[in-house]
Amino acid sequence: MACFITLEGIDGAGKTSHLPAIAALLAEHGIDALLTREPGGTPLGERLRALLLDPATQATLDTETLLMFAARCEHVQTVIRPALASGRWVVSDRFTDATFAFQGGGRGVDSARIATLEDWVQQGLQPDLTLLFDAPTEVAHARMAGERQLDRFEQEAAAFHQRVRAAYLARAAADPTRIVLIRADQPLAQVRADALAAVAALLAAQGARA
Ligand SMILES: Nc1ncnc2c1ncn2[C@@H]1O[C@H](COP(=O)(O)OP(=O)(O)OP(=O)(O)O)[C@@H](O)[C@H]1O
Ligand SMILES: [Mg+2]
Repeated sequence: MACFITLEGIDGAGKTSHLPAIAALLAEHGIDALLTREPGGTPLGERLRALLLDPATQATLDTETLLMFAARCEHVQTVIRPALASGRWVVSDRFTDATFAFQGGGRGVDSARIATLEDWVQQGLQPDLTLLFDAPTEVAHARMAGERQLDRFEQEAAAFHQRVRAAYLARAAADPTRIVLIRADQPLAQVRADALAAVAALLAAQGARA
């Protein structure tokens, strides 16, 4: 059965760096995974991403949350579900845990409201495995610094990123079967090894079930 894997973590934690290695491990097992990201992953979603990340965009908390789920709805209905239904694995660089962490933890949107949108848009779809790349906010911030102009979320104060991190950790603690905590404040090669071990465990579990 095709699996859905998501990568999560605060801005700059070091998520996207590991996508190619994850894809390569899956390829070694004969799996041609679809690599995608949120917000984004569809033509409309990428346009919404540009708006959501633009520091010039002004949006209320509810509007921001709804736009995230509008992008996600398009992504789930036109990309993720069709891929999984056709037997193709999907790896997404961020998904709904990010909305609970950023809009919920970071901005203070009631998590029950986010859960309502999650039910509406996902209709029960959940990742089979989520890798949570966790690092102290100072470490992540230092990794982003100087790279490029910071986006609308990256520009937020340190306290915002600390709340986002805490919300991610709380979700991992509440769902340790799905969410595997990866210590991202280690050398890149070690973080990669830990991430690949978690994916290998999923592959082994799938093999055992087949
Ligand atoms: N474990 C690590 N040790 C040192 N540097 C790292 C590590 N992981 C990633 N980096 C570097 O930190 C920067 C950010 O990494 P990456 O783009 O993977 O993070 P990200 O979590 O995807 O960021 P964003 O939230 O902005 O998408 C890159 O320059 C990358 O090379
Ligand atoms: Mg990234």
